Amino acid sequence: MSSISVLVVCLGNICRSPMGEAVLQHIANERGIEMVVHSAGTAGYHIGEEPDERTTATCRKHNVPIDHEAQQVKESDFRTYTHILASDESNLRNLERIKPHDTTAEIRLWGSYLDGKPIADPYYGSMGGFETCYQQCVRYSKAFLDQVVGEKPSANL
Ligand code: 4NP
Repeated sequence: MSSISVLVVCLGNICRSPMGEAVLQHIANERGIEMVVHSAGTAGYHIGEEPDERTTATCRKHNVPIDHEAQQVKESDFRTYTHILASDESNLRNLERIKPHDTTAEIRLWGSYLDGKPIADPYYGSMGGFETCYQQCVRYSKAFLDQVVGEKPSANL
């Protein structure tokens, strides 16, 4: 088991971050990296809910297993996880605002490991936004693992 543990964060924890959790876990597994990955939202509107059906459909389409119940970020998360990955700047700002003084996690925009872009909120949009989100989750998962775990795989994983 690597000592890396990751919390992927969005607003509601039903669209972007459960997809991010599923994709990052899946790619880490494919690379043979044992890693704890969870997700949470900065807001509590959807606590206890399953992921949005468009997130589930997008993961299924790409054969990525997904199983999650929405939860809100809590104070202990800032000490439990080594890395907290924010989906966009608004969530990054909220995480920085609520983090306790004894935070040990590194808190970054997920896209900062690659192109510095946010993952746009697909909630009020069409399925296209969920596919874009998926593609970003794949690229950002690979970039994160390349940089944080260190070795790039020889296959295209
Ligand atoms: P997420 O998307 O942050 O990617 O889970 C959203 C889900 C719900 C809401 C907003 C964004 N909402 O306003 O209820």
